[in-house]
Amino acid sequence: MRGRGAWRVRDALAFASRELGLAGVGEPAREARRLLGFAFLESFPPLGPEERLPPFFSRRFRSLVTCRARGVPLPLIEGRVGFLDFELKVRPGVFIPRPETEELAERAVALARRLPPRPRALDLGTGTGALAIAIARARPDIRVLAVDRSPTALACAAWNARALGLEDRLQLRASNWFSRVEGRFHLIVSNPPYVRHGELLSLPREVRGFEPKAALDGGKDGLEAIKHILTHAPEHLYPGGWLLLEIGAGQGEEVMRFALDRVGLVETKLERDIAGKERFFLARCR
Ligand SMILES: C[S@@+](CC[C@H](N)C(=O)[O-])C[C@H]1O[C@@H](n2cnc3c(N)ncnc32)[C@H](O)[C@@H]1O
Repeated sequence: MRGRGAWRVRDALAFASRELGLAGVGEPAREARRLLGFAFLESFPPLGPEERLPPFFSRRFRSLVTCRARGVPLPLIEGRVGFLDFELKVRPGVFIPRPETEELAERAVALARRLPPRPRALDLGTGTGALAIAIARARPDIRVLAVDRSPTALACAAWNARALGLEDRLQLRASNWFSRVEGRFHLIVSNPPYVRHGELLSLPREVRGFEPKAALDGGKDGLEAIKHILTHAPEHLYPGGWLLLEIGAGQGEEVMRFALDRVGLVETKLERDIAGKERFFLARCR
């Protein structure tokens, strides 16, 4: 680099890949290219490797690389994340949907397609609205209620629902799990907080430092929210209705036992994610 204004694209990318790699970011070269695109607000035609970056964009790129190297997740820098075949706005204070959540959403969509006409679905702890939106997009006749305790999450989910034209069929409500939920549903889905309280500090820096604690903390055994949802789900499901949950790796056995012995759910099933970890719990109401 000969001066900040004279950075060549090739050199800027090499610098960013090195900085991100040293900071422990996975796939540093790919992320460097993403950040460069974002620094340009994606409004410029792509520059060749020998072209020079205008000074404003060099400074912007450098500061984005610094943010990312400090652990700010890429979706928070870009303000959005791809989810299935659509895009979600994300913002600080709202959980960024993970690849596992996409797998959960695929299962929820498959179930939603099997429901009777004009069904109702409930998403507990909706965050960006990812699951509720995936379900609403899958069936034009479905009505979805999505709740969260976080006003920041609800505002973000409302924005996403509006942007995707779903505000008529996706209702958002502040609720402490079922506290403000009335009536029964054909499908209840949730990706609740399930990390053991004592393990929060050992989560990766990006998660620990930038995700809301309320989205992660599952209490002493990690199962507080899951057990609460399991206990109250039958009061809110139609007979034969489905409950689909994301759970933590290693929690399957206890979740199964609790669901069968204490709650009386039937057709209980555990499924693994693509990494081979027990991740999804499925059951039906009698
Ligand atoms: C792991 S995040 C999941 C967000 C979103 N469903 C997803 O999969 O991307 C858990 C969500 O549950 C919400 N939450 C935590 N405690 C809650 C409670 N008592 N009642 C309602 N929502 C709660 C958090 O605010 C957060 O948005």
